[in-house]
Amino acid sequence: MTTPPAKGLFLTFEGIDGSGKSTQCRMLAEALQAQGRDVVLTREPGGSRGAEEIRSLVLEGDPDRWSAETELLLFTAARRDHLERTIEPALAAGKVVICDRFADSTRMYQGLSRGNLRAKVDKLHEMMITREPDLTLLIDMDPEVGLSRAKGRQTTEERFEDFGIELQQKMRAGFLALAQEFAPRFRVIDGNRPVDTVAADVLTTAQAALS
Ligand code: ADP
Ligand code: TYD
Repeated sequence: MTTPPAKGLFLTFEGIDGSGKSTQCRMLAEALQAQGRDVVLTREPGGSRGAEEIRSLVLEGDPDRWSAETELLLFTAARRDHLERTIEPALAAGKVVICDRFADSTRMYQGLSRGNLRAKVDKLHEMMITREPDLTLLIDMDPEVGLSRAKGRQTTEERFEDFGIELQQKMRAGFLALAQEFAPRFRVIDGNRPVDTVAADVLTTAQAALS
C-alpha cells in the first residue's frame, strides 16, 4: 500500500496595517519548520515574479494613478499569477502555505475603502480566483496602535495606513464583520499583546488546523 500524499494547508493572515501580520507569519513559519513541516512563506500583493511587479504598480507612485476599478483588476491579476505560480503548486506538493494577506484584503480595501465595490470584488473573485484559505488568522488590533506602529516603518510604498485613523477604524470593523461572514475558516487573534504571547496563540490555532 502506498502512503497517501501529505495534505497541503493554506493559511492566511489578515488585519489592518501595523497589526503584526508579517511578524506573526514569519514566526509561525519558523515554528512549523522547526517541527519538520515544509513551509512556503509568501505575501500579497506579490509572491511571484509577475505579482511583485504588479505590487510596485499598485503601491508606489501617485495614489490617484488608478481608478478604484483598475486597482481592483490589478490586485486580482497579481493574485491570479501568485496562485498559479506559487500557491497551487506548493499545495499540490503537500506544503503548508502561509500567506500575508489574501482575498479578504481585497474584500476590505477595494470593496470598502473607495465606495462600495464589494459586489464587483465578489464577482471577480468567483471568476478568477475561487480558492479560499483553509484557515484565516485575523490579527485584531486597536487602530491607533496599529497606525502608530505602521507609521514607524521606512518605506516608499503607499499603503492604506497613509489614509489615516478613520479608514483604519473602518477596516478593523470590516475585518471583524468578515470573520463572522466566513466564520468556519476565521479565527480572531488578539494582537494587542506582546509578540511572543500572540505567537503562542497563533501556533496553537494553526496546529489545531494541521492535525
Ligand atoms: P503588519 O505586517 O501587520 O503591517 P508588522 O508585523 O510589520 O505588521 O508589525 C508592525 C510593527 O509593529 C513592526 O515594527 C513590528 O516589529 C511591531 N510589532 C509587531 N507585533 C507587535 C506586538 N505584538 N507588540 C509590539 N510591537 C509589535
Ligand atoms: P502589506 O504589505 O501587507 O502592508 P502592511 O504590512 O502595512 O499590512 O500590504 C500593502 C497594502 O496593500 C496594504 O495597505 C493593504 C493593501 N492591499 C489591498 O489594498 N488589497 C489587497 O488585495 C491586498 C492583498 C493588499
